[in-house]
Amino acid sequence: MPTKATKRNARVKPGQREEETLRVLISHQRIRERVRHMAQEIRRDFPNEPVHLVGVLKGSVLFLADLARELGGEVSFDFISVSSYGKGMDSTGEVKMNKDLDVSIEGRSVLVVEDILDTGLTLKYLLRLFEERKPKHLRVAVLLDKVERRIADVKADYTGFVIPNEFVVGYGLDYDERYRNLPDVCVVRLGPRGKTKIEA
Ligand code: PRP
Repeated sequence: MPTKATKRNARVKPGQREEETLRVLISHQRIRERVRHMAQEIRRDFPNEPVHLVGVLKGSVLFLADLARELGGEVSFDFISVSSYGKGMDSTGEVKMNKDLDVSIEGRSVLVVEDILDTGLTLKYLLRLFEERKPKHLRVAVLLDKVERRIADVKADYTGFVIPNEFVVGYGLDYDERYRNLPDVCVVRLGPRGKTKIEA
């Protein structure tokens, strides 16, 4: 089954790169302020308690790094990697595990950290998986929420920004593995007419 990256690449011949322009949607300064507030909210809910962050590779890495520093107190982290095939019109909702957590979450206060909540199929899979492992608490923090794309009935406990259905990159999010290192969240526009890329 094609992954998201191969679906994207199918439109570009080898060696050719589509014309791309970027428009800042959320500046790094706004992100920094919002992440700080989210961390305060989380710490209010878990005062004096170790919080175990579970980052979903790879998009969440920058958000997790900033959130961890803002949280203060006792924080640990672990990572999981999954692939979702639930993005296309022929959506199956299938999620495949690539890398499991390194340590048990039993009895811990777990915060799943995601860069973006889209169809919700990935998060639904993860919550079911983690609930079976009997954490003390299981909460979710997402930086970006594309509410209008939701298929699965899931929601985050802590949300950074609700965004429109536009293809976004930066601050961990990629287009064909590029742009993850941008400090801002940007909308990618493709082609000379600057048509916004909407993920299908
Ligand atoms: C993104 C994001 C979530 C998932 C959300 O990961 O990090 O894990 O998609 O989509 P959903 O709500 O429709 O399931 P992606 O597959 O882009 O991988 P990446 O983080 O490695 O870029």
